[in-house]
Amino acid sequence: MSQYNLYMQPQPKTFDIQIGHIALTNVHFHRAHVRVTFFRQDANPGRRNREPRMFETTIVRNANLNGNVEYPAEAGRNASADRSPEVPTLETRNLSRAVSGKVLVDGISVQIPPGEVLAVVGPSGAGKSSFLRLLNRLDEPTGGTVLLTGEDYREIAPRELRRRVGMVMQTAYLFPGTVAANIAFGPRQRGEILSTEQIAALLDRVGLGGYQDRNVSNLSGGEAQRVSVARTLANAPEGLLLDEPTSALDEASVRGIEELLLGIIQERRMTCVIVTHNRAQAARIASRTMVLEAGRLVAIGPTKEVLHAG
Ligand SMILES: Nc1ncnc2c1ncn2[C@@H]1O[C@H](COP(=O)(O)OP(=O)(O)OP(=O)(O)O)[C@@H](O)[C@H]1O
Ligand SMILES: [Mg+2]
Repeated sequence: MSQYNLYMQPQPKTFDIQIGHIALTNVHFHRAHVRVTFFRQDANPGRRNREPRMFETTIVRNANLNGNVEYPAEAGRNASADRSPEVPTLETRNLSRAVSGKVLVDGISVQIPPGEVLAVVGPSGAGKSSFLRLLNRLDEPTGGTVLLTGEDYREIAPRELRRRVGMVMQTAYLFPGTVAANIAFGPRQRGEILSTEQIAALLDRVGLGGYQDRNVSNLSGGEAQRVSVARTLANAPEGLLLDEPTSALDEASVRGIEELLLGIIQERRMTCVIVTHNRAQAARIASRTMVLEAGRLVAIGPTKEVLHAG
């Protein structure tokens, strides 16, 4: 079992962090060297059975998928960020979910500023996936809410919400058929046709140039995950939710997908929440890490300090 030194939170309300979270973290959080028995780094074999069997809703909004040109959605986002840099991309307010009397997510309040990558860690069954699924309303909160750039997400149509906050899960759930058909599916649902050039540009970006006509049944796990990333990218999302995106992959594929995700997050200044069991990965990707236990947020702070190498 791994053990970690954690920054403990004195009050849930100390997560009302507007800007400069690291500096404010130093103000709000006192260091308490608490030894916490934590989780195994290797995959829980039972976990996959509990993963939701569902497809991402992917909607391609804009026609320009050339990586060299800014997306309209990004242009709007950057302009808005210039006006109000303090507005978090995602903010949870006392976010909770209970099912049949069992509390899966318990009153979590956290702010995630634009461009931040936040890791979510904790023991198996702590509610990490449940928390993530609340962030783009794949599951319905039973208490509290989420703000997307300051707007209560219940005011946003679910399809639009999921275009703006994309998700990549542990395993890529692709439709039977070709890679191109999978990429084009989301736009087609909205009555938008993705051109072959657009599909090619997306596949190039994820390192799968020329894969358009490949049948998804013949893809490796890493390749399938790249297709899943390409589908999500087509939406130019502001927020990206990653639920253990590399834990089903072999070691060689892990770093490739990780580098791809990190590159995309940085070049598009996406706000990202990543659930991971891999603390080295959290250290490589996330500036800040939060720890869940039994549905509760028990610690949050700079990744290197939360996940103390011990
Ligand atoms: N729809 C549901 N109904 C009832 N209980 C659920 C439901 N979904 C999840 N749970 C339970 O809620 C708890 C949290 O599950 P969740 O999948 O969010 O944990 P996790 O932290 O992601 O775990 P892992 O690391 O194994 O993926 C678990 O006890 C799980 O069995
Ligand atoms: Mg999970």
